[in-house]
Amino acid sequence: MNDMPLKHLALIMDGNGRWAKERGFKRTKGHEKGADVIRDITTYCSNHSIIETVTFYAFSTENWKRPRLEVEFLMKLLNTYLKKELPVYQKYGVRFQAIGDMSAFSKPLQKRISETEKLTQNNTNLTQVLALNYGGRSEITATVNQLIAEGKTTITQDDISQGLQTPYSDIDLLIRTSGEERISNFLLWQVSYAELYFSQTLWPDFNADELDTIIQNYTNRTRRFGGVK
Ligand code: IPE
Ligand code: IPE
Ligand code: MG
Repeated sequence: MNDMPLKHLALIMDGNGRWAKERGFKRTKGHEKGADVIRDITTYCSNHSIIETVTFYAFSTENWKRPRLEVEFLMKLLNTYLKKELPVYQKYGVRFQAIGDMSAFSKPLQKRISETEKLTQNNTNLTQVLALNYGGRSEITATVNQLIAEGKTTITQDDISQGLQTPYSDIDLLIRTSGEERISNFLLWQVSYAELYFSQTLWPDFNADELDTIIQNYTNRTRRFGGVK
């Protein structure tokens, strides 16, 4: 591997519903299988020496538009996922953090999220971030409002970068599965110079082997950041 940095990997997990539909299952079955893939990819990342943070887009501020039963299922799934995941986080040294507006979630789910954050806060091998009720625009807007509340009258780019809920460095590589080629309001500020990769694979079929191949592809790219190389 060359010296391409890959501190922060981000994934837009898409295609759960289509995966289930293709098999004659309910959409929820796709979400269930998709949660297992998050575990596999996180384990892979924890064994990868240069990845420090992996951020998964799990629920967007727009996903409330889905049928009520699907939203309820996703909330329940998140709760069971975090409960099941705790020993895995501890085993692989993974710190869990959530970004997004958690206040819209039920109290027990909020508690599960904050307890998992607390119980894993000293793990240093990898940070796994789940974006939950997350929207890039709302994150930027909240940050600017916070800075104003602190009395700032002129706001710099650094102020925003540091004030974001995700001060985990910019994204190096952003992968979206399922063949859709859009950002869907994910980390808008942080993707500024990210390398993008769109995979045709539906999220429940995504795996560590494919991620490994994508990382090979990424390391052969040239990132110029506006300069000349
Ligand atoms: C991604 O899969 C999971 C979430 C957005 C929660 P989708 O549910 O969007 O799957 P498709 O796009 O309908 O196939
Ligand atoms: C993006 O997927 C959100 C998540 C993966 C959580 P969507 O399936 O909701 O995105 P659109 O609606 O196709 O853009
Ligand atoms: Mg989708």
